[in-house]
Amino acid sequence: MNILIVGNGAREYAIGRKLREENIVNKIFFAPGNAATSNLGENLDIEKHEDLAEFVKRYDVDLTIVGPEAPLSDGIVDVFEKYNLAIFGPSKAAARLEGSKAFMKDFLKKQGIKTARYLNSNNLEEISKFIDSLGQIVVVKADGLCAGKGVIIAQNHDEAKEAAKEMLSGTSFGEAGKTVVIEEFLDGFELSLFAICDGENFVTLPVAQDHKRLLDDDKGPNTGGMGAYAPSPLASKELIKKVEKDVVEPTLKGMKKDGNPFCGVLFVGLMVVDNEPYVLEFNVRFGDPECEVIMPLIDGNLSQMLYNAATKKLENINLKDKFAVGVVISSKNYPYKSSEPALIKVKEVPADTHICYGGVSQKNGEIYATGGRVLVCVGVGDSIKEARDKAYELCKNIEFDGMHYRKDIAYQALR
Ligand code: AMP
Ligand code: GLY
Repeated sequence: MNILIVGNGAREYAIGRKLREENIVNKIFFAPGNAATSNLGENLDIEKHEDLAEFVKRYDVDLTIVGPEAPLSDGIVDVFEKYNLAIFGPSKAAARLEGSKAFMKDFLKKQGIKTARYLNSNNLEEISKFIDSLGQIVVVKADGLCAGKGVIIAQNHDEAKEAAKEMLSGTSFGEAGKTVVIEEFLDGFELSLFAICDGENFVTLPVAQDHKRLLDDDKGPNTGGMGAYAPSPLASKELIKKVEKDVVEPTLKGMKKDGNPFCGVLFVGLMVVDNEPYVLEFNVRFGDPECEVIMPLIDGNLSQMLYNAATKKLENINLKDKFAVGVVISSKNYPYKSSEPALIKVKEVPADTHICYGGVSQKNGEIYATGGRVLVCVGVGDSIKEARDKAYELCKNIEFDGMHYRKDIAYQALR
């Protein structure tokens, strides 16, 4: 199989790295990829969806896998399907589950899927009234895509109203904030569940937990994710069954019925309150860095699994009886600004560990940290503790100017 991976982060690197191990995979292309994916396959300098589809036809690419949400919300799948090309990801209409929080909330309500009580509105008066009907802490969200930044947990009603007003004025999030979602605050623990979907059927992957804050003890600003582990002992078999039955099944049924069958990764962000899962959000793609810890746990061919999903023939998958922990190493000024390129030195990559590269560039054959989440140190083991020790052993072998990583990834699982 020849495969094209769309995206340029450590997530796409992780997918490419897994595919590289599979005998049935021949060529791997990345569009655009990063300085390190060129060691796994060939990076393409092609941007437009139509041009990518043209490339795929010309070079006999059998399957395209889309990593990030932007091209999905932009309709890359619709373009590929117009030419009958196999692509793993949701259509533009189905991607609204992530692209519009207002759409997602209305959909959940229609399907009777549990979620926080909410109001979608662009009218300040109506918003004020609704906020007054809620408890002290209120969640204010911009409707559209804001790269994970459009959520404000307001500590009181005045703060919530101020946040809503600012969003609606367009100063904080532009177009994405022209409609806001006001939600009651849910107090519980968070879990992410990933389901591979073919429009009708699904298989669930190991439950992963992300760490959104920059610093240890969940302090500091929110980030795209500073580390993850899987599978999480916080997710019991019963809880997973419940999410499958009460969330994933009705979602796939509802989307199909509405004429938007969902193919791709359904990433279900949950708040578990008194053992009941409430949907906080959907994403329509693999999480990053969750993907980096899920990939090493898949037994068998990911390529075949995703091809089957893309061609509506999804079958069961096998998982390894192992654990994985991923520690993100970020650049000096993350998440505030970019940094000067810094040479990455890797002393040694110990057994059962590997690096997934994200924010990197290359100069004279050497790899430089260029900003954001630079790389992920992944450790695999027979327990979370073992996997974590390995991941941190790898971290100690990496050096670049201004590097930062959390020292407490997977603490929830080891308490
Ligand atoms: P979202 O992008 O909607 O998942 O929100 C980002 C983060 O905000 C979530 O991971 C939660 O930590 C928090 N959050 C969102 N909605 C709520 C809610 N209704 N109650 C409590 N926390 C929330
Ligand atoms: N790790 C969270 C995300 O990918 O959105």
